[in-house]
Amino acid sequence: MRKNIVAGNWKMNNNLQEGIALATDLQAALQGKTLQCDVIIGTPFIHLATVAGTIDPRLIGVAAQNCADRASGAFTGEVSAAMVASTGAKYVILGHSERRTYYGETNAILKEKVLLALANDLTPIFCIGEVLDERNAGKHFDVVEKQVAEGLFGLSPADFAKIVIAYEPVWAIGTGKTATTEQAQEMHAFIRKIIAEKYGQSLADGVSILYGGSCNAGNAKELFANPDVDGGLIGGASLSVEKFLPIVEAF
Ligand code: PGA
Repeated sequence: MRKNIVAGNWKMNNNLQEGIALATDLQAALQGKTLQCDVIIGTPFIHLATVAGTIDPRLIGVAAQNCADRASGAFTGEVSAAMVASTGAKYVILGHSERRTYYGETNAILKEKVLLALANDLTPIFCIGEVLDERNAGKHFDVVEKQVAEGLFGLSPADFAKIVIAYEPVWAIGTGKTATTEQAQEMHAFIRKIIAEKYGQSLADGVSILYGGSCNAGNAKELFANPDVDGGLIGGASLSVEKFLPIVEAF
């Protein structure tokens, strides 16, 4: 069933105490409100267990920002999907453009991560999106289709139905430059169309497709009003309750 979702992506921000304070403050701000969307926070690994153990999962879901592409073993410095799941986190952000760009994550690697996440009952929030040169060259649909096909189209329909997709045009991430509501809707409709071609319309209609890239209190309402935009993946504006709450309330 398609859900509205507003997910924060803290990236590499907040030490443990700051992160716990932010999560706790957010929970206090959400308490007693009737929300039209699910709220998720994507924290660094160090916060996961404490935050997941502190906050009410009915109010806020907890996401990791990555997991390993191997199940376990001698992979120094890595954190497995099973470890993420053992903290109480229910989601994992995979394939963020910063991971693809700075850490060499390919669609082939991401495919393994998605399978491990699903095997450990984590919901992947799978990020896709083109860089500016690709958009200017008119290749943005091809790029996004390849990311979806290579990363996700090996999944069974039952598994695909568990995926959340985040379309984040790379040129809009952290730049203050947002996709126009038309650009967002056009790409989200395209993504839903290719999912429908592969898995059928009814499955495609159930997939939540989030927009990310300089989404904020000022533009969230307009972006979320599009029929194929089911929420947002929020970076900078997720780092304070004051900025994040109005985005949650944009639904
Ligand atoms: P931003 O980041 O909201 O700071 O642009 C979004 C993201 O990278 O998920």
